[in-house]
Amino acid sequence: NTMLSWQRTGYHFQPEKNWMNDPNGPMFYGGWYHFFYQYNPDAAVWGNIVWGHAVSKDLIEWLHLPLAMVADHWYDTNGVWTGSATLLSDGQVIMLYTGATNESVQVQNLAYPADLSDPLLVDWVKYPGNPVLVPPPGIDDRDFRDPTTAWYGPDGKWRIAIGSKVNKTGISLVYDTEDFKKYELIEGVLHAVPGTGMWECVDLFPVSLKEDNGLDTSFNGPGVKHVLKASLDDDKNDYYAIGTYSLESGNWTPDNPNLDVGIGLRYDYGKFYASKTFYDQNKQRRILWGWIGETDGESADIKKGWASVQSIPRTVVFDKKTGTNILQWPVEEIKSLRKSCKKFDKLEVGPGSVVTLELEKATQMDITAEFEIDKEALKRIGESDMEYSCSTSGGSAQRGELGPFGLLLLADEGRCEQTPVYFYVAKGTDGQLKTFFCTDESRSSLANDVDKRIFGSTVPVIKGEKLSMRILVDHSIIESFAQGGRTCITSRVYPTKAIYGAAHLYLFNNATSANITASIQTWAMKSAYIRPYSSHAF
Ligand code: FRU
Repeated sequence: NTMLSWQRTGYHFQPEKNWMNDPNGPMFYGGWYHFFYQYNPDAAVWGNIVWGHAVSKDLIEWLHLPLAMVADHWYDTNGVWTGSATLLSDGQVIMLYTGATNESVQVQNLAYPADLSDPLLVDWVKYPGNPVLVPPPGIDDRDFRDPTTAWYGPDGKWRIAIGSKVNKTGISLVYDTEDFKKYELIEGVLHAVPGTGMWECVDLFPVSLKEDNGLDTSFNGPGVKHVLKASLDDDKNDYYAIGTYSLESGNWTPDNPNLDVGIGLRYDYGKFYASKTFYDQNKQRRILWGWIGETDGESADIKKGWASVQSIPRTVVFDKKTGTNILQWPVEEIKSLRKSCKKFDKLEVGPGSVVTLELEKATQMDITAEFEIDKEALKRIGESDMEYSCSTSGGSAQRGELGPFGLLLLADEGRCEQTPVYFYVAKGTDGQLKTFFCTDESRSSLANDVDKRIFGSTVPVIKGEKLSMRILVDHSIIESFAQGGRTCITSRVYPTKAIYGAAHLYLFNNATSANITASIQTWAMKSAYIRPYSSHAF
């Protein structure tokens, strides 16, 4: 349907057509990045789930390959669900995934490449002894899914984690195995948090406290912390916490129990779910992929014939400056799509004003922006006990002394459509400044059958730092990163007027009493070459 084709993205990963959800089994093998994903080959809605497969040299340009696995056995006939890859030191590739059986029981299955000498790993074999794991006593048949990448212990055994729940307590179980065929449940749980419900797509990985590189999933020892992530089925958000994982006890414990998994930090405060990391041994980094669904109605998805995109892969590191969060940043390869740079240096914007940033095309962009609040206004600001919150405080239209200010994305000339991404600074009753980073979708589209939420969170700012944001705009998606990736917000928006050449970019300052100085760089982005599968290519 050409009517809706402007919503398709130019450089985000998506299949040619139909429904996609979770990222599955990402890995670097045979000189290629492999990416698998939950896919419905028949329709633009969830169902008939199989594994799509694509490969890339740089995580940006992709070649679609034939489906890697379809629902062809009793143990996955109701769906080849989410799973993860493990690379063994002898060169083997282990793929573990959840199957929904003929009776809709969730079981874990083993698969491996048919031919390890094929760098594209086109053909996959399911282990004849599947399933390798069924729900243990006390766990509901429908609450046992999404095995992680395995990590190796000094006892010569591998371990995997699987998400579940008991009553309303979200939990992760851990099994050990020597051959990926026989498993033993480790006593106790990896971790449990009451009230968080079913944990989908659990992820556990080490981060270095000192170095900038990523760590192999099996890495542990001094100078390392472990991030534990769960995707909460109840509210469809990805929550993480930083803590310590002990191989001896088999448990993970959060650094700060008040910010435990499911009650504290999120990877992203917008639309971002069922994410998964992998260790990229090619460039010694850890990379995060997240599923970004639609926020329009199901009938709109059916009409346009496709649903969902994947996030731009993000490099993940521990934030050494704050010590309390991770940093997420688009992989460096994305810069290869940048063309025609424009610089706007030290623009001063008074309270209540909007400045046009002249560009040729504002639908496909990479943007960096730095903001400074004038010093007098910072001194003047009174303490307010008003509890500001991105989602409940009236969005970009609600004015305070020191904000909101930021950018208006995908805006038409009359600005009846616009998506503001902004900072808001408030002084708490303790005299401390608090910075919020938000996205306001309330005027993002004239269409009325789409979600228009206002979301965001606080972002830590260290003394002496400027406020900074990075934004990737791609037709119907806006991925925003504040302070180097401490707080991230992904937004799906469906402008009807602000499309193609009619989309513009503006700088705004809606504070009541502060001047803002902004320095901005924008790059128009080329489209990524995401090629359909053709057998002629081989
Ligand atoms: C998360 C999820 C997983 C499951 C898969 C099915 O979005 O529900 O728990 O394995 O999707 O498609």
